[in-house]
Order: sequence, then C-alpha cells, then structure tokens
Amino acid sequence: MGFKPIFEYFCTALNLTAVIDTLQIKTTKTSHPRLAETDFNNLPFGKIYTDHMFVADFEDGEWKNFEIMPYGEIQMSPAISALHYGQAIFEGMKAYRLPNGEISVFRANKNLERFNISADRMAMPTLPEEIFMQAVSSLIALDKGWVPSQENYSLYLRPVMFATDTSLGVRASDTYKFVLLATPTGPYYNKALKVKIETKYTRANEGGVGYAKTAGNYARSLYPFAQAQKEGFDQLIWTDSATHNYVEESGAANLMFVIDGKIVTAAVGETILNGITRDTLIALAKNKGIEVEERKVSVAEIIEGIKNGSLTEAFAVGTAATVTQIGEIGFEGELYKLSDVSERTISTSLAKELNDIRYGLKDDEFGWNWIV
Ligand code: PLP
Ligand code: COI
Repeated sequence: MGFKPIFEYFCTALNLTAVIDTLQIKTTKTSHPRLAETDFNNLPFGKIYTDHMFVADFEDGEWKNFEIMPYGEIQMSPAISALHYGQAIFEGMKAYRLPNGEISVFRANKNLERFNISADRMAMPTLPEEIFMQAVSSLIALDKGWVPSQENYSLYLRPVMFATDTSLGVRASDTYKFVLLATPTGPYYNKALKVKIETKYTRANEGGVGYAKTAGNYARSLYPFAQAQKEGFDQLIWTDSATHNYVEESGAANLMFVIDGKIVTAAVGETILNGITRDTLIALAKNKGIEVEERKVSVAEIIEGIKNGSLTEAFAVGTAATVTQIGEIGFEGELYKLSDVSERTISTSLAKELNDIRYGLKDDEFGWNWIV
C-alpha cells in the first residue's frame, strides 16, 4: 500500500475528504485581481467570474496539462468539433460560506457522477475523481475570497468539457478540454414563475440525450423558450415527446407538485435530467415523513388539481434555481393561478431545511457538505 491509499484510508476513517495535490497543477496567479472592485450587491447569474480558472487537456488517451491560470480567453481554432458537432457537456454546483468561515461544496460527488454519465452518452472521455476534486479544491483555495457571505448567495461552479479536434469528419473527437469556472451568484429567479406547459416543441425524446447535461439540450430549448417569453411566460414546462400528456421538467430545473399533501414529481429516466436538488429534497421530505411519489405526472392531473384545490404547491428545483415557486401555469391558452406562496408550507419548509444544511446552520446528517 502506498502513501496515498493509506492517507485516504485515515481521512475516510476520520470522515475527512482526502484531497492531495497529486496532479502538480501549474499555477499562475493573476496580476490584476478584480475581487476588491467587484460589487457583491450586484451579481447577476453567471456574468462575473472569479480571478482564476482551472484547465486540463485530454490528449493521447489521457488527461494532462493541469493548470490554474487567470480567468480569460483561450485561443481556439474555429474548426474545433464542439462548435460543429456539439460534443460539449457541463455541470453546475455551488460552494457556500459556513458560519465558521469554512467553504463547503454541496454534493459535488453527484455532479461528477452525472458529468461522467453525460460524457459516456456523448462519446467523450470521463473525468477521474482525483482531477475533479483537486480542480475544485485548488481553485477554491485560490479564489475563496469570492465565495459570498450574503444570505442566498454562493459561488456557482461550472465545469465544462468540449471537443477540440479540428478535423471535420463526423466522429467522436480524440482531444478535449476541461475547464472549471467559478462565478459568485445570487438566486437565479427572484419571483414566483409564470410557466407555460409546452405541447408543440419537445426538449427530449426516448433514445435521445435528455438525461445528459449537454449543450444541445439547452440550444434546442431556446426557440420555444423565446416564443413563451413573447407570450409573457418566464419558463416552460416540457412534456413527453410522444403524447405531450405528461409533464417532464422545466428549462433549468426539475418540477415538484404537492397534491393531496404528497410530493409528486416525474420519475427520472432517459428524457429527464436526474437533478441533485430533486434527489436531495426527496430525501429530506421522506426523512420528515412526507410521502413522495416519483411517477408519470399527467398534465390533466395538474390542471384538475388546480381546479379542485387538491394541488396546493408547485415549484422548480435545481442548483441555480434552488427552490423557486410557480405562481401561474398556462395551458392551451388558459392561465391557471396557484395558491398564494405564503400558504405553501411543504416547499417552504423543505427549502429552509436545504438552505440551513448548505449554509452550515443545521446538522449535515446526510454528509452532503464537502468542506474544501
Ligand atoms: N433539469 C435541467 C434541464 C437543468 O438544467 C437542471 C440544472 O442543473 C436541473 C434539472 C436540476 O438539476 P440539479 O438539481 O442537479 O442542479
Ligand atoms: C444549474 O442549475 O446548475 C443549471 O445548470 C441551470 C443552468 C442551465 C442555468
């Protein structure tokens, strides 16, 4: 047994996460730090990046060239295949500042798991855990001043991998770049949403890539989203491609409903992203004794539930979205108004519990916080 497994064994026994710098990351610090001049009271989602970023290359069948460098442009050929054939995947996770000043990244292991599921589906190389963990911990170590301390704010981490071969033949690229960006951010949405049940366009289909966090899923959503915005909606609720009778998820979040006091959410599968916030809230709800049904959820049931009062809450759940209330649902030209947000006890209590764990205000009994 070498040093690393022994070290990791003791860390596991002590409930510590072992992150040792085995990558020998080349680090170049910025000569123009921007932290002091950044207005933390004005942080629109994903617009301001921290001083540094982590990059790595996949070449000759292995990951190499691990580097932390000042955030900025990377020179690329316009022939890279990510631009032409769309081999590009990403993740989204958040780092929180705890009351004792430590920084915690929430359930990052699940993001890595999903990143590698996306990579497999898109015929891209997977990313080993040690690279992912060291990328996150090293970048945060350098840019930890950028983790906000205001309520509901965090440092959003965006790992992305894209194909860099410059040959135009349609085949999986042999080379890739991995980049980890960090952006301090507040809530993605700041009001209850008016959403439209989409029955013409689809986000995903059986046999497709809906469960992968890949660029094309977002690209194909933009036109229908823009149409819905023109009609005054904030977001879409996607339905299944075969019948449009079942709700799937939203544009950047999964969906949950409270019907007859139970949480009802679409079962994840090939067409729905397996959301980590969704999984977390299901665990918290079950722990509180709230019944959760993961199954097909029909549009008819939603509309009927609003009409007869059995549907009392509807909310979108995701890393960027956190828990965002849905105020109104549009379907076939009708607008259905939901209960007042102040009356929503289940989603608001779950959202509070989730936040308290993330911000270290409540015991992390599930072991979700990774202290970096
Ligand atoms: N569905 C889509 C399409 C998303 O983009 C996201 C955001 O990541 C989610 C669901 C929610 O996933 P998570 O809770 O893991 O962020
Ligand atoms: C996230 O919640 O991390 C997402 O990826 C949503 C994003 C597309 C805004």
